[in-house]
Amino acid sequence: MEYEVVLPAAGSGKRMGAGQNKLFLQLAEKPILIHTLNVFEADVNCTGIWLAVKPEERLFIEALLAQYNITKVKGLPAGGEERQHSVHSCIKEMSNVNIVLVHDAARPFITHGIIERLASTAFVKGAAIAGVRAKDTMKKVRDGVITETVDRESLWMIQTPQAFRFDLLAEAEDVAEKVGFLGTDEAMLVERLGHEVHIVESSYENVKMTTKEDLIFGEAILASRKS
Ligand code: CTP
Ligand code: MG
Repeated sequence: MEYEVVLPAAGSGKRMGAGQNKLFLQLAEKPILIHTLNVFEADVNCTGIWLAVKPEERLFIEALLAQYNITKVKGLPAGGEERQHSVHSCIKEMSNVNIVLVHDAARPFITHGIIERLASTAFVKGAAIAGVRAKDTMKKVRDGVITETVDRESLWMIQTPQAFRFDLLAEAEDVAEKVGFLGTDEAMLVERLGHEVHIVESSYENVKMTTKEDLIFGEAILASRKS
C-alpha cells in the first residue's frame, strides 16, 4: 500500500541531555535521523517524505540528506512549539495523498513489515497505530499509594507509526487546532472525532531514542541485526 510519511524532527531532545537535537547523535556512525530516513528511502511503497524541522537546522539537515543520498524528501516545513504543531505544518503542505503515516524521527528501528500492515489497515479502516502489549503489572497510583491494579490484558503501549486516510487526519488536526486541543499522539485527535482507531501489534525493538540508556539499547539492536 503506497503512502507518504511525515517525520517530526523539530524537537530539542531535552531528556537526552546532549545539548543538541538528539536526532543528530550517532548510532553505528550514522545520525539517528539518517537511520530513520533510510527505512523510508528503502521502502518501495513510500512515495514521499515530509520532515518538520527547526528553521535554524534546515540547512544542516539538507546537507545530511545530500550526504546520505536521501531522495524522497518533498518538503521541510518549519516545526512548531509542540510535536502536534510540527506534524500539522507538514499536513498543511501535502496534497493528493491517500494514506499518510506519522512517525517519530527518533524511532529508527521500525520495519517494512509493520509499516505495510499499518498502511493497509488504514486504507481499509481509516486509522491504525502501532503498539505493543504492556509487559509489567500496571497500577494506578495517587499520592504514592496504589488505588487500583489495572487489567493488563487491555493495556497497550503506543508507538508510531500512526497511519490514516489523509482526509481523516487533516480534518482531525484542523478541529484540534480550532478548539485548541493538544494531544500526545495523532490517534487522540482522530478518537475525538468519534472515529475508530485500530491497533497493529508492533515490536519492542521500535523504541524511541529518548534518554541516554536508549542509545545503548539502540546500538545493541543494530549489532544484533548485523550478526
Ligand atoms: N518533535 C517535533 N517538534 C516538537 C517536538 C518534538 O518535531 N516541537 C519531534 C522530535 O524531533 C521527535 C519526535 O517529535 O522526533 C518525538 O518527540 P520526543 O521524543 O519528545 O523528542 P524531543 O521533543 O526532541 O525530546 P524531549 O521531549 O526530551 O525534549
Ligand atoms: Mg518532546
